[in-house]
Amino acid sequence: MDPRPNSPEARDISYHMHGYTNARKHQETGPLVIEKGDGVYVEDIAGNRYIEAMAGLWSVAVGFSEKRLVEAATRQMSKLPFYHDFGSKAHSPLIDLAEKLVQMAPVPMSKAYFTNSGSEANDTAIKMIWYRSNALGQPARKKIISRKRGYHGVTIASASLTGLPNNHLSFDLPIANILHTSTPHHWRDAEPGESEEQFSARLADELEKLILAEGPETIAAFIGEPIMGAGGVVVPPAGYWQKIQAVLSKHGILLVADEVICGFGRTGEMFGSQAFGIKPDIMVLSKQISSSYLPISALLINDKVFEPIADESDRIGTFGHGFTGGGHPVAAAVALENIKLIEERDLVGNARKVGAHLQARLRELASHPLVGEVRGVGLIAAVELVADKATKAPLGKPAALGTLVNGFLQQNGVISRNMGDAIAFCPPLIITEAQIDALVDAFQQSLDAALPQVHPAGHSRIDT
Ligand SMILES: Cc1ncc(COP(=O)(O)O)c(C=O)c1O
Repeated sequence: MDPRPNSPEARDISYHMHGYTNARKHQETGPLVIEKGDGVYVEDIAGNRYIEAMAGLWSVAVGFSEKRLVEAATRQMSKLPFYHDFGSKAHSPLIDLAEKLVQMAPVPMSKAYFTNSGSEANDTAIKMIWYRSNALGQPARKKIISRKRGYHGVTIASASLTGLPNNHLSFDLPIANILHTSTPHHWRDAEPGESEEQFSARLADELEKLILAEGPETIAAFIGEPIMGAGGVVVPPAGYWQKIQAVLSKHGILLVADEVICGFGRTGEMFGSQAFGIKPDIMVLSKQISSSYLPISALLINDKVFEPIADESDRIGTFGHGFTGGGHPVAAAVALENIKLIEERDLVGNARKVGAHLQARLRELASHPLVGEVRGVGLIAAVELVADKATKAPLGKPAALGTLVNGFLQQNGVISRNMGDAIAFCPPLIITEAQIDALVDAFQQSLDAALPQVHPAGHSRIDT
């Protein structure tokens, strides 16, 4: 860190409070200031270049220097820099994008509704679901089931859906009517000898018991990410989504697929719902929809959701919900061009092909003394680190080992993120096999660098 009082780092400490950061510790460590991006790489202000192995925040599908997105934004900015969709107004980028998304959906969808972030989209989903229950004359049907370790955002309702302690502690969350069921993490939570199918059946049974205990007539929806992202890249075990969906349809409960990370090619299919045979009533899209060059998110809703909402808005006189920037024309134009690029360049195919290489290379590390589990599909993966392979025990406090290895990884030219002790990999969809090799080699070096600190003489030397 540049110690001069007027350095960018010092000014950041003086003036900027960060998201997802220990605000006190940041005053000592300062920021990593990123200056520019090029393909899968970003560069800091000191000129150090990194492979951005998280595509920013699971989001920059087309890489960090896509001129066509810049041009699309410039064109739209010159023509119509702002308009909205309140009171039956519309503009061409939004109509085009709505049509495109509904046509792309892997299950029949009726309408697209636009918001600015994944959190806003999930809050909107909850409001639509409640509004629908009232429209159907079922005012008791308001509870939403989410999952422990699920991630759905940080606004009051979406943070309540999120099943991670740090999103609830000291925020007085979750709000009422949000229930959390178990994480589908076979490696961590299965009983000895329990197969993936058996584990999935047990979780579906647990879900049904929860529904029956709460009263099926009070449960409106179930929300889940096809693959859990921020909860540590948890890939559902065999049969999980089939068994969960059977329970939901038996009790007439809506299914929301939070495709904010999986959508637009991440798993090697256009949507995570296709990868796992999910048939959602609502799909929540964001991040790779525009490669996050500009903020935009969308909900796709089917007729089961739209029709009662339309009736209710007619009864009341309006659908009393909407965001000033929802479906911003410049963001919509960028999203359209971005989706065009994903299709033109077959980035979904690349995620499948290069993703298979990533998964194979990471699995070569499975025998490393610090590796507990390697998991992932397509271009999303995580390696869960353990201090003791047999017991799966962490190194002192959870996240100590993940933080240590992630630090070495950054020194070795790769930006990743540790979700606790799981190091995540979610690079831009344009990544090549050679770049994957460089990434995995840097990861192996980082594991080796951490090893003497974990097992100096058979026990931990790190005091957390
Ligand atoms: C699956 C999922 N849903 C929702 C969100 C929230 O999106 P945002 O940060 O845009 O509010 C995220 C963000 O990482 C996410 O991964």
